[in-house]
Amino acid sequence: MLPGPTNVPERVLRAMFTHIINHRSQDFVELYTEVIEKTQQVFQTKNDIVALSASGTGAVEASVVNLIRKGDKVIIPVNGEFSGRLAQMLEWQGANVIKLETPPGQNATFEQVKEAFDNNKDVKAFYVVHNETSTGTQVKYLDKISSLTSRNNAFYVVDSVSLLGGAELPVDKWKIDVCITGAQKALAAPPGISPISVSPRAKKHMIENPPPTMYFNLARYFKYYEESKHTPFTPALPLLYAFREALRIILEEGLDVRIRRHKACSDALYSGLSGLGLTPFAKEEDRSISIIALNYLEGLEDNTFRNTLAKKFRVLVAGGFGNLKGKVFRVGCMGEVHRYHVMRTISAISSTLNMMGYKTNTVDALQVAEEKLKNL
Ligand SMILES: Cc1ncc(COP(=O)(O)O)c(C=O)c1O
Repeated sequence: MLPGPTNVPERVLRAMFTHIINHRSQDFVELYTEVIEKTQQVFQTKNDIVALSASGTGAVEASVVNLIRKGDKVIIPVNGEFSGRLAQMLEWQGANVIKLETPPGQNATFEQVKEAFDNNKDVKAFYVVHNETSTGTQVKYLDKISSLTSRNNAFYVVDSVSLLGGAELPVDKWKIDVCITGAQKALAAPPGISPISVSPRAKKHMIENPPPTMYFNLARYFKYYEESKHTPFTPALPLLYAFREALRIILEEGLDVRIRRHKACSDALYSGLSGLGLTPFAKEEDRSISIIALNYLEGLEDNTFRNTLAKKFRVLVAGGFGNLKGKVFRVGCMGEVHRYHVMRTISAISSTLNMMGYKTNTVDALQVAEEKLKNL
């Protein structure tokens, strides 16, 4: 139950046990084109996609170095580790970064974002972390952002590393120019492949303004794909086999069904864990579907709690980041998460709390959780 990497189905693991093929062969063309076409379906886009052999940070960095130049004005909400890192990358790139800072656990409102656009008509891009994995918040107005970006003719870039595939994010409908995710979260594949989609106008901009970088030069990937359906550099072949299998599973389940399953499991975890007396860290309206961050009860020690949960019940959850270390723990609700995982996590957390001297009512907590799962 980690916020990534998440559980990987056997079928996906088995797909990696195969010969290492020539990445300049017809076998590779078949593998990679299927990956790209199926990723487009999951992103709900006709835009170009590059499946980078890199962790999520690589794809996020690619979105910065390919689009932003010294002096460009960029707006970005910042309220945690990953939005902070992205703002840092933009600053290193020389951008004039307008940070909309809010306390961890709380998002900038749409009105605050709109005001920033009103005050900065010359903005070149809006960058946003869809789901702040460090604190368990999710931005819920991404559908409205294109009304601002199109008015100012700005690029719209979304880091959805820890949510895409587990919540609604139709890239074309919401007019997202660049969208990024990672294989190891809601897509339930091993880490190491990170897809990035690029709209025609962002692609044109990238081709006309190539970055002084080799590996993350996206224009190079577009050219190779157009000419031969290859990648410019040797890709992580076993991971691409695994990723293709994960995409097949997602489309067999159906994206809508998968999104509904994530929501039901998330609602059940929030209700059940609250029923044990735990309180979510994030403000109610900003709470993430895929990361349930909970405040530690008074006197509950982080390492002892998580080690007991792991050793006695084989349930893994994550601690907090930076100054939230020891104050919160995070339960992932992504990818292969079903009724079984939800019920087992709630009962294991309840038993662990009991073992550590806190009184909880497991039966009641499971009952409120089951209520949320009844349509699954
Ligand atoms: C929102 C977000 N962005 C970027 C990253 C970085 O991804 P990676 O650790 O795969 O480099 C993460 C990782 O958890 C994330 O949650």
